[in-house]
Order: sequence, then structure tokens, then C-alpha cells
Amino acid sequence: KQAHDLRESLFVVNQFANDYFQNILHNSIEGQRIGMTYFRGRGFRDDIIKKFQLGYSTDSHKAFVQAALKQGYKEEFLVKTGLCYRKEDGSLNDRFWGRVIFPVHTLSGKVVAFGGRVLNAATKNVQMKYVNSPESEIYHKSKELYGIYFAKQAIVRQDRCFLVEGYTDVISMHQSGIENVVASSGTALTSDQIRLIHRFTNNITVLYDGDGAGIKASIRGIDMLLEEGMNVKVCLLPDGDDPDSFARKHNATEYQAYINGHEVDFIHFKTNLLLAETGKDPIKKAALISSIVKSISVIPDAIVRSVYIRECAQLLEMNEKILVEATAKLIEQAK
Ligand code: CTP
Ligand code: MN
Ligand code: MN
Ligand code: MN
Ligand code: MN
Repeated sequence: KQAHDLRESLFVVNQFANDYFQNILHNSIEGQRIGMTYFRGRGFRDDIIKKFQLGYSTDSHKAFVQAALKQGYKEEFLVKTGLCYRKEDGSLNDRFWGRVIFPVHTLSGKVVAFGGRVLNAATKNVQMKYVNSPESEIYHKSKELYGIYFAKQAIVRQDRCFLVEGYTDVISMHQSGIENVVASSGTALTSDQIRLIHRFTNNITVLYDGDGAGIKASIRGIDMLLEEGMNVKVCLLPDGDDPDSFARKHNATEYQAYINGHEVDFIHFKTNLLLAETGKDPIKKAALISSIVKSISVIPDAIVRSVYIRECAQLLEMNEKILVEATAKLIEQAK
């Protein structure tokens, strides 16, 4: 009962903060001049800014905490949500100041956390580009997916889900008319997050940033997704683009066409990628085959596995029987 009351209180405080940050963005001079200018400069439409409940935190270290205390919110809850933290001198400080705010919603639309982005778009200090709410009684980062509340109906309708890295990727894709999209928010995908998507569809397309880090994260994500029984496709963006920057260069029709033309099954993605690296070197080719067999071996459904083994045999010009045996061996070892 008490734990439940605490959780409820934290959600109430977060909702207050969410209203507060939006109010500053829309109804203060600083919010308009700095926050809205930032969002519009990124090409976000006003209706999208409202839909995602984006906000702005003023460039003062105590503006929010003062407003919250004045409204009667208890210090304990302000600290437990992570919206504020206690300094060494005992006073409370805002976690978010001088940043644009992205609220994170649960599946049912309650605000569990916030991400705040610095305004200087060119910042090279990657560490501090985003400040995020810490883990709390209501926020477990590994269980939430940014955008799921706004995406769930479209995921069911389209019977598939796009997985991207960041807040702005989700928002820009919505603006381009692609609403079945969620973000892992820059961290490694977890099985809880995958199961959340799996409640709505079996089909997922990984659309990570078109850079080295994005490709690496895709490779890691693929096996996790396969393990949970998802059908996995990957769409590689041009080098240097992410789903948000791509949206700014192409209209909605072009975006759809790019995805339709570049989305490939995980097995093609992995083979093409690894073949490009290995060339004709037989030892490297053997390592490539092992890596793909490893991915196939984690697929729970035996029929799906056998289909992929056949595909793999054709792509790599391999004897199918050898691949069947290698897969069986890995499955046996994993038991
Ligand atoms: N991220 C984070 N903290 C960081 C960097 C990234 O929490 N210091 C998370 C954010 O959720 C971010 C996602 O990882 O949206 C992807 O990171 P990145 O590609 O660097 O940022 P973008 O989403 O592309 O943001 P922007 O376009 O504003 O630079
Ligand atoms: Mn399923
Ligand atoms: Mn990136
Ligand atoms: Mn990015
Ligand atoms: Mn980006």
C-alpha cells in the first residue's frame, strides 16, 4: 500500500513537471526565444511539439524546485523522481536547466522520466548532450521504450515496429507519417523492451544511426530480437545520417521509398556486411559463417531456423547439411 502511494506521488510530481516544462516553452519569453527557436530550427512542427509534450527548462538552477515547493510538492518526492538533487550544502537543485525537455511516457501514457538536451546543437561534449532522469521507484530504464505510448496503435495497424536510437528519431519519423516507431534511447536493448514490442507485433525493423556505432549496436540487437522470437529486418541509413537527419533531407514519400528499398532480412544484412569485410579470405569466411550460424541458433522456432539455414546456405554457397549440424551443435551447447 505504502509503496503504491509513493509511486502514485512520484507520477503526480512528474505530471506537474511535465506541465511546468511545457508551460515555460509555450508561455514564457525565454521558452519562446530559446526553446521554440531550437525546436523549429530542427524542423519540428508545432503540432508535433505539442503531441510529444516537449518542454523547456529555464536557464536557472532552481526555477523548477521553487515553483514545485510553492505548489506544495514535498522535497522527498522531488528528489525521488530525480527532478531535483540535494547539494552538499543541503539545498535542492534542478537536474534540468537550460535544456529542451523530452518526457518519457509509459505504455499507458504516464510520465516516468525526462531527457533534457543541451541547446548548442554543435556540442562535442557527448557526455552531457543529454541529461536523463535517474532510475527511481517508478523508472527502470531497461523496461521503458521511448515513444511506445504514441506508437502502439500504429504498430498493431502496420503489424510491425521500427526501432531507432533516439528521441528525435521517433519524433521526426512521426512527422514524416511513420508512427510505428520506438527508441531504445542509446542503450543496449533489453529483453523486457523487446517483449513490450512483441505484445503488439512479431515484426521489427532496426533503423539505427548510419555510423559505426549504429551498425555495431544493430548486430548486437539482432541476436537479442531473434532470441525473443521476433522476425528481424534491418534498414541501413546512409553513412552519417540518423532517422531524424534523414527526415530533414527527404519528404515522406521518399522516406517510405528508401525504407522499402533498403530494408533487408537480418541474414542478408549480416552476410552483406561481413562479406564486405572478409572478401575471399577462407579463414575470415569461416568466422563469418560461425557468426551467422550463432544468430540462427538462438531462434526459438525450429521451422524458422530451417528456413534461415537454407537461405544462409544459398547466400554463402555452403552445404546446407553442414550448417544444420553446426546449428544443432550450438543449440546443444546452449542447453
Ligand atoms: N543519449 C543519451 N545521452 C547521451 C547521448 C545519447 O541519453 N549523452 C541517448 C538519447 O536518448 C539519444 C540517443 O541516445 O536520443 C541517441 O544518441 P545520439 O544519436 O547521439 O543522439 P540523437 O538522438 O541523434 O540526438 P541529436 O540529433 O539531438 O544529436
Ligand atoms: Mn510472436
Ligand atoms: Mn549515434
Ligand atoms: Mn542519432
Ligand atoms: Mn540525431
